Amino acid sequence: MTMQPALQFTENDLIGHISSVDTSRAIINVYNSSLLTRICIGNLIAIKGRTEQEFLISIIERVTRSVSEDLSEEFDVNQDEIPIITSQSDVIRVVLIGTYQNVSGERKNVFKRGADSFPQIERECYIIESGNLQRFMGILGAGYPVEERLKLGIFVSGKDAEAIISGDKFFQRHAAILGSTGSGKSYTVALILERASKLKYSNIIVFDMHGEYAPLAKSEQNGFAVQMRIAGPGDLLNPSDDVLFLPYWLLNRDEMLSMMLDRSDQNAPNQASRFTQHVRSLKQKTLENEQKLKIAETFTVDSPIPYSMENLLELLKTDNTTKGQGKNGPVKGEWEDKLTRFISRMEAKLDDRRYGFMFSPPVIANNYNWLSTQIIKLLGSNNEKGIKIIDFSEVPSDVLPVVAGTLARLLYNVQFWMEPEKRTPVTLLCDEAHLYLPIRSDADAVQRQALGAFERIAKEGRKYGFSLLVISQRPSDVSKTILSQCNNFLSLRLTNDEDQNVIRKLIPDSLSGLTSILPLLDVGEALILGDAVLLPSRIKLDIPSLVPNSATRDFWREWATRAAVDNAIVNAVESLRSQTRSSSV
Ligand SMILES: Nc1ncnc2c1ncn2[C@@H]1O[C@H](COP(=O)(O)OP(=O)(O)O)[C@@H](O)[C@H]1O
Ligand SMILES: [Mg+2]
Repeated sequence: MTMQPALQFTENDLIGHISSVDTSRAIINVYNSSLLTRICIGNLIAIKGRTEQEFLISIIERVTRSVSEDLSEEFDVNQDEIPIITSQSDVIRVVLIGTYQNVSGERKNVFKRGADSFPQIERECYIIESGNLQRFMGILGAGYPVEERLKLGIFVSGKDAEAIISGDKFFQRHAAILGSTGSGKSYTVALILERASKLKYSNIIVFDMHGEYAPLAKSEQNGFAVQMRIAGPGDLLNPSDDVLFLPYWLLNRDEMLSMMLDRSDQNAPNQASRFTQHVRSLKQKTLENEQKLKIAETFTVDSPIPYSMENLLELLKTDNTTKGQGKNGPVKGEWEDKLTRFISRMEAKLDDRRYGFMFSPPVIANNYNWLSTQIIKLLGSNNEKGIKIIDFSEVPSDVLPVVAGTLARLLYNVQFWMEPEKRTPVTLLCDEAHLYLPIRSDADAVQRQALGAFERIAKEGRKYGFSLLVISQRPSDVSKTILSQCNNFLSLRLTNDEDQNVIRKLIPDSLSGLTSILPLLDVGEALILGDAVLLPSRIKLDIPSLVPNSATRDFWREWATRAAVDNAIVNAVESLRSQTRSSSV
């Protein structure tokens, strides 16, 4: 089959001529105003290039009509009224995006990003629509090798042309999926996970804040994912296999102190130093008992090595009560009474069942080898179920950042220390990121610890095959450091001005005009920007075959048909008391 050129224009497609050009934009003087009814912002215009084979491809950013009034040149001085003629001129502003060639060496129909040359004044400009558009969009996805393709849906403008992006580029250097509530973020996540699950060894860990993605793991529905959850107060006695604990000894010194230490206490430096000293010596002891003498030579206080919390408390209490030896008998001890408040803050946390996943792990979790078994569950290939969903829905909001941050740091560090040839790339999908990755100035001590962990991944992760996929409905509340490291944005409808501004600032200047369509997108439609697409495009996302649990309720219809259930209310009150969902009366 000889491939015909994707772009073939006739006089009917000629909309105007270039009238001015700057570095990334051009102005087109519209010559055929009747064509204006067929275009809108975001549509494509082809500008004739240096040769017959070449077109510069641009996106419409603005259309303006100006009307000017002039005195008619032929008027009669004796007449009372001077005739005024109005003339109208239409102007289109476009952003230059790339270059298309009918033939380029051996290859036909080649599109690449970036304009090799600038359009010349007076060059013809054509609107790309119908058959041209369909063929052109078709070659965009074909630009990627088959094994790199990730199909997300269809191009809104492309009349059923498949919207294919580069799966490699999308995951390589962090991406974000942004959109107001109800715009289709969760569906998009489910879709991407479904597509990834078709790869034999995909490796994505989903931080699922609301337990929304549970259906993706239901085996009776052909679920493709594994689900785990962070232990809630009800899981402490008989934890099942899918329950995750995050024992306190996994926390580094700063994470632990961000929870335990009151920095305004005048004894805070003493408390921190005793804590550090004792944790270090307890870890040392564990290593000696385990005969890990090599490790004992180089470990640090932050190394994840089990120790006993009881022993730690004992040591701190001894410090707090030990008197010093003076020349004339006992004097006030060096640490005496200085740790009282620290100890009581610690004890309060240990008693709080909501922190059970951290401070009341099962006995087995204190075994030296427990950690690697856990991490294999999270980072391993899991019998080819590489999508792992971690349900955070029972984690109290005040500790959410510690849990998310510690887990992310731990996984990243394991990846970091792995032999490079043996690493499989890993993506951490951060649902509702504004909850634990806030803007730094808004963050408390605990959130700052989590931020530190994620920011490090955002900055260095690429080198170690570890990337983030950040999801949020409030991009303006998400850490700028993290968003600014994202190379691809899939933005669904965004109604809030501030949120639109965030995106505007994150993308190249020349594309910022496109963000004006963000509030107008339909449900399930997105603007995709970044290096994973050849052309910033508006796409209609496919619906995943396993849809997430929707939180959207049909209020009006349900009020007409569903009664409240008293017994369910009684159970809910009991659950509130026990802090577990399983209690019933
Ligand atoms: N690609 C899509 N095509 C059509 N409808 C969609 C699509 N994605 C989502 N929807 C609809 O929009 C609703 C909200 O989607 P959801 O993903 O839960 O939004 P969000 O997570 O942004 O709040 C869904 O219940 C579904 O009915
Ligand atoms: Mg959602």
